[in-house]
Amino acid sequence: MKSSRIPGFYNRSVQERLSLLADWLSPDDLEALKSGLALEQADHMIENVVALHSLPLGIGLNFMVNEREVLVPMAVEEPSVVAGASFMARLARAGGGFTAHCTAPEMIGQMQVLQVPDLPAARLALLEHKEKLLQQAAGIDPVLQRLGGGPRDLEVRLVEQSPIGPFLVVHLIYDVRDAMGANAVNTAVERLAGEVETITGGRVHLRILSNLADRRLARARCTIPLAELAFDDYSAEEVRDGIIAAWAFAAADPYRAATHNKGIMNGVDAVVIATGNDWRAIEAGAHAYAARNGRYTSLSTWGKDAQGNLVGTLEMPMAVGIVGGATRVHPTARAALKLMGVSSAAELAEIIVSVGLAQNLAALRALATEGIQRGHMNLHARQVAIAAGAQGEQIERLARQLVEEKTVRIDRAEAILREWQTEK
Ligand code: MEV
Repeated sequence: MKSSRIPGFYNRSVQERLSLLADWLSPDDLEALKSGLALEQADHMIENVVALHSLPLGIGLNFMVNEREVLVPMAVEEPSVVAGASFMARLARAGGGFTAHCTAPEMIGQMQVLQVPDLPAARLALLEHKEKLLQQAAGIDPVLQRLGGGPRDLEVRLVEQSPIGPFLVVHLIYDVRDAMGANAVNTAVERLAGEVETITGGRVHLRILSNLADRRLARARCTIPLAELAFDDYSAEEVRDGIIAAWAFAAADPYRAATHNKGIMNGVDAVVIATGNDWRAIEAGAHAYAARNGRYTSLSTWGKDAQGNLVGTLEMPMAVGIVGGATRVHPTARAALKLMGVSSAAELAEIIVSVGLAQNLAALRALATEGIQRGHMNLHARQVAIAAGAQGEQIERLARQLVEEKTVRIDRAEAILREWQTEK
């Protein structure tokens, strides 16, 4: 059986790592992963294209999500993210991996209705005509309807106070199945606007999806066996309680919560980007959701179970798709989806939220013990070495020296390179 636990992957060359993926991807998909997006394809994706902008794509190892082995493609520029997620997935694996699930893929389409003569009456009229409106909405996208998606509900909200006075807001709840859903939802609300105007006597102004996708949630949970937490001079209890105290800081303080959630998004966005999904939508949804109770707080929770094991959970909106948009056009995104073997948007969302939880744990574990700089520095030192002009074998040697000297700075790197030059 294939295992996402591949010891020594880190120390292999890029070519060797790619050959290890041959068990997971067909030769064509492997080729697509390697070659990536062509300039000509990019030219069809956005406007005024002049070049491609690349990111490193690393593989998150050791992930088990709902008892399935998963190799996770992660596109990210920051050192330690892939290593951190992989390491924490290994700890979680010892406790059975990640258990994740999703709610239905229901997105919200908003219509802002202005100049309504009688707001309470218009609200009631809309609710009375709900079935008719939903029926009309169901005819808008026959393909989605055939796949089991389409309109699910209609909500009417009265916004009493705003800078322009009161108005109505209509929410169309729309099941978008395996799509991210922006196109489907935006089309639906644009098409429904006329009928809403007839019913309310008002004017439909904005017609657009909401990125606060709080009906499309993904949740992950993991248990880290207590014994797995001990390292160096830190006892398991010390690490566990340190992680819980670190989480409590984020739960109570928005300044810390922003950074805590940023750490979660390091993992989430890396997979969202690797699969060609809209990371701005995911970011917007995550942070709005974190503030849903009026105070910005942590998206995750950390505590202990009756046996003293560390237990983590993460819940957040996850509007990702596996059909449409860049997920299908971008060869790397297609290969990324194949690598994970996902056959639905829900499965993808479950993996992403698990990676977010692992990433959060990596940050908290480091912060609660040795601090994050030690782990960061090794990789950061390599980047500094390259920036200073090191090449080939010089890169590792220079990075090692910078870390040993505890001075990972470009001026020092350049000075060492100059010293080596004169030694020759
Ligand atoms: C850095 O990219 C992410 C962290 O700041 C997250 C955190 O503080 O929890 C390490």
